[in-house]
Amino acid sequence: MRISVVNGPNLNLLGVREPGRYGTATLPEIEAAVRARAAALGVEIAWSQSNHEGELVETIQALRGRADGALVNAAAFTHTSLAIRDAVLAAAVPFVEVHLTNIWGREEERRKSLLADLAVGIVAGFGAQSYLLGLEGVVALLKTPKRAGD
Ligand code: DQA
Repeated sequence: MRISVVNGPNLNLLGVREPGRYGTATLPEIEAAVRARAAALGVEIAWSQSNHEGELVETIQALRGRADGALVNAAAFTHTSLAIRDAVLAAAVPFVEVHLTNIWGREEERRKSLLADLAVGIVAGFGAQSYLLGLEGVVALLKTPKRAGD
């Protein structure tokens, strides 16, 4: 099973960026924790981060047929990008929307997600743990056999 983790703008600065809000773990540290949990679950991880909307669109488009599931933290583009929403629709890969912070407890502009209704689930507010919980969730979902009629 192959799970892709897609990270959006400014997440490369985790650890130094507003640590009181986003925590002190760096993105490479989060990646290492996700890879360790994935190894325990017996799944493969493809990890990416970009600050560029078009690059994220291309990364998400490329998931089609190549990833069984995904974790997507589109960061600020979560709240603004129809292009990323369209790419997620085109990719047709089950994904969990992940956020370090609880976006619904933050400023008005962040309380809306253009991806939420497309996600199989959402994990927000647990800091770096959100990624691990999201991984557990999507893997469990993919391992659950589909029942006839579902
Ligand atoms: C974020 C929340 C977004 O509103 C913000 O722009 C980010 C990170 C989170 O993980 O909490 O960059 O996606």
